[in-house]
Amino acid sequence: MKIKNICCLGAGYVGGPTMSVIALKCPDIKVTVVDLNEARIAAWNDENLDNLPIYEPGLAEVVSKARGKNLFFSTDVDAAIDAADMIFIAVNTPTKTYGEGKGMAADLKFVELCARQIASVAKNDKIIVEKSTLPVRTAETLKNILDSTGNGVNFEVLSNPEFLAEGTAIDDLFNADRVLIGGNQTPSGKIAIQALVDVYSNWLSPKQILTTNVWSSELSKLTANAFLAQRISSINALSALCEATEADVDEVAHAIGTDSRIGPKFLKASVGFGGSCFQKDILNLVYLCRHFNLPEVANYWEQVIIMNDYQKYRFAKNIITTLFNTVNGKKIAFLGWAFKKDTNDTRESAAIYVADHLIEDGADIHVYDPKVSESKIKADLRYLWELEGTSESRITQKLAQVFVHKDYNEILKNSHAIAILTEWDEFTTYDWEKIYRNMYKPAFVFDGRNILDETVLKQIGFQFKGIGKV
Ligand code: UDX
Ligand code: UDX
Repeated sequence: MKIKNICCLGAGYVGGPTMSVIALKCPDIKVTVVDLNEARIAAWNDENLDNLPIYEPGLAEVVSKARGKNLFFSTDVDAAIDAADMIFIAVNTPTKTYGEGKGMAADLKFVELCARQIASVAKNDKIIVEKSTLPVRTAETLKNILDSTGNGVNFEVLSNPEFLAEGTAIDDLFNADRVLIGGNQTPSGKIAIQALVDVYSNWLSPKQILTTNVWSSELSKLTANAFLAQRISSINALSALCEATEADVDEVAHAIGTDSRIGPKFLKASVGFGGSCFQKDILNLVYLCRHFNLPEVANYWEQVIIMNDYQKYRFAKNIITTLFNTVNGKKIAFLGWAFKKDTNDTRESAAIYVADHLIEDGADIHVYDPKVSESKIKADLRYLWELEGTSESRITQKLAQVFVHKDYNEILKNSHAIAILTEWDEFTTYDWEKIYRNMYKPAFVFDGRNILDETVLKQIGFQFKGIGKV
């Protein structure tokens, strides 16, 4: 079976870049990305590529080559579903904020809505591809909804989890370590798997494309993210021990990373991991384990999150204690707000939680991030406080302690301390001598990403504290 027309529901961080690359690499396939959010679709269609809704190195170039030829962005969901042979579901699956499984389980309401809409519109057989990260056995739920509400057409559900990391999404798509495709091991399931294998074969070699049964594929996605996050929590746990023992966490990471069995990647100690996936997927895994009555397994994975929360808290507490036990009325400069460099995404960014602790202690937080807007920063904090049940009047009060500037010099001038929250390259190129001259003394730098040269900064006169260093 040869795919000619693909539709993707959800034009977000996953759907947008993935479909753009498929369109570029498969000129014979028409790709339509749809979204309920009209502003987002308008941004994808904007003549000026600087206005794309997502910042991702290389993305604008891919979009400019394919858009209008075989890549389209639209809000007409029904028409796109109707025309497609293969439909990707890439809508968001956040952690539930209400009811059963609150704070743990994935909220599948958007996925369910997609399934119902596909079922009501489809007039011919279609392959449905789960791209969003979903709890294991969601494919079964999808199939159930599709078959019970459909027009008698056949649906094959595949799982094709996304492993791309933000900031390197385009490169990850071009040169994937592997693409994973899970499907039913029935004759029609195998035909569907092969159809998707053929799409990726336009630019990937057979050994980069793995096929499994559908449940293994779904579980592999959660497991991959749990293992990656666990490495960060492990090195972050040791960073606390390094600070107590005068070992240097970067030296320890390098020493263990040269063991080929351990490997060097994902051993960078930090203020804590963020992003839309790690926490959500682990919570999801924990919920699943509890559901299947495996409390020891659930507790084991939950500890990865507990350690990450501890790391963010430890960083904030360190700032407060070092600044003579209070930051009340003090100007704390935040360099970075995104959850990592080269992205404008702030979901679950450590910066939000560190800011929250410091604001609670009375600090004025002045933020500069090269890609994140003032409205986003304030919305992130508001979202956290609303979830915690903070009153509207208290939220207004706390937001008055937050200042966002477009020029980094503004936030650094007359500050009591600087905290590095994101590892943007530009921070290392600043004139740190000038910054030092314009700060209150003693001038403190808390490097939550270990990107600055400690020796140079100390020579200038800064009181410097990295992660996992004395
Ligand atoms: C999403 C999921 O959050 C994640 O679990 C999965 O691993 C990949 O897909 P992402 O693309 O980063 O991640 O989400 P987001 O940027 O929020 O994009 C989702 C898009 O779907 C939004 O633009 C939203 O408007 C759209 N959407 C949501 C719909 O079009 N219809 C819906 O019913 C719900
Ligand atoms: C992750 C997975 O890498 C990707 O495969 C999956 O599809 C989605 O989730 P992403 O969240 O985009 O991707 O970013 P990633 O590069 O994994 O970083 C996640 C967080 O961990 C960031 O906050 C990053 O700063 C932090 N991190 C990463 C560390 O603190 N130390 C490290 O060594 C690596």
